[in-house]
Amino acid sequence: MQLENLSYVEVEEYLKRKDIILVPIGSVEQHSPYGLIGTDFIAAEAVARVVGEDMEIVVAPTLCYGVSPHHMAFKGTVAFTPATMIAVISDIVCSLISHGFKRILFINGHGGNINPVQTAFEQLKVDNTPGVFDIISWYAFDKVRKMCRDIFAGNEGHHATPGEISITKYLRPAEFAGKAINEQKVENPKYYWPLSAAEMKDVFPDGRMESAPWLATGNYGKQIVEIAAAELKKKIKTMLNLTIL
Ligand code: NI
Repeated sequence: MQLENLSYVEVEEYLKRKDIILVPIGSVEQHSPYGLIGTDFIAAEAVARVVGEDMEIVVAPTLCYGVSPHHMAFKGTVAFTPATMIAVISDIVCSLISHGFKRILFINGHGGNINPVQTAFEQLKVDNTPGVFDIISWYAFDKVRKMCRDIFAGNEGHHATPGEISITKYLRPAEFAGKAINEQKVENPKYYWPLSAAEMKDVFPDGRMESAPWLATGNYGKQIVEIAAAELKKKIKTMLNLTIL
């Protein structure tokens, strides 16, 4: 069930039965010479929509843009600053709360979003906003991490990972037809975090972070989406049992 396809009357009916909504959130940032710039929001949206269908939960339109200033040395990246993200999340949550949603779960595909989104939640609670707010990253479930480690061994890395690229290859296989596969050494540099855009380009010159995105396959992507969706469903069942004050 996607919010964008409902009428307000249908939302009113839904809110008589349920108070939960999923909001996919990702980034628009480079994912190596091989991966799609939309990788993070495409993957998060896919997992959220599978769960939304299976559990009859409304899924809001995807917040495609994320906090990726460190990727700005690569063409095509479009980044929010942390302050922008805090403001955007706050406005989304307040809008949904005003309609009667009480459990607002951001289904995340990009690590850089986590701190600002949680900061927005903290400020909303300082302001006495009612409800349960959470950000759940599909790639951070133990079973997903284990699966990616088992499949890709030491080549999963931290960015432009074959795990996330596999999901996009599963969903949008035609888009990979023209992408160049330049297999390169998977480096393991010493670095600190966070990095500026220039520092990022210096340490990770082709945009990968200790990953081998060319190992991605659509078949692996299908399996990863299934595991991530199954884990997310378990997490949501727990959240549905929470009593909201
Ligand atoms: Ni990514």
